[in-house]
Amino acid sequence: MSQGSALEELPNSVDVRSAFRAAMRSYAATVTVVTASDGRRRHGMTATSVTSLSLEPPSLIVCINQTTLLHDILLSARRFCVNVLTRDHSRLSAAFSGAVPPEQRFELGEWKQTADGIDFLVDAQTRVFCRKVAMIPFGTHSIVIGEVDDIGSSETAGPLLYRDANYCVSVPQVA
Ligand SMILES: Cc1cc2nc3c(=O)[nH]c(=O)nc-3n(C[C@H](O)[C@H](O)[C@H](O)COP(=O)(O)O)c2cc1C
Repeated sequence: MSQGSALEELPNSVDVRSAFRAAMRSYAATVTVVTASDGRRRHGMTATSVTSLSLEPPSLIVCINQTTLLHDILLSARRFCVNVLTRDHSRLSAAFSGAVPPEQRFELGEWKQTADGIDFLVDAQTRVFCRKVAMIPFGTHSIVIGEVDDIGSSETAGPLLYRDANYCVSVPQVA
């Protein structure tokens, strides 16, 4: 049975992959830095694949590439933090996505630590602290499920967004 004209225009998986990549590039997403520690190593990595999962219990998911250091740390970490960046944090996002080596990243921005050693960004728009409850591998990534156990927020100028490989800001639409 026909799947519809959109799929008929995509004769092989290479085309599907590049069409998917283009579709996701144009998908505006809020930029975060996810931080975790396994007791021995502390680390933070820029991530936009963050979505709320459920309100009962309060929970979210983060999709993390299995080749990253953060993934390795999350395998044994008990908790992690999603630091939602503001429009003033584009340099921080670049640093935490590879421009700065892992061991120097926390020298940028104002970071503090929880009693159990989780780094959090003092002027993040929101800091969502989670207890890791599951990690489900799929393809190149793992879906990390976190149950939210604490939240902190700051007065800010608005979130940092990422779209078409550029940082941008949201502007309310006038009706
Ligand atoms: C805006 C932006 C969003 C990103 N989102 C994710 C993501 O959701 N998951 C992921 O695994 N990597 C994501 N990355 C890539 C990682 O930040 C990048 O590969 C990182 O440098 C690799 O991790 P490591 O150097 O800390 O090992 C993103 C990068 C950028 C610039």
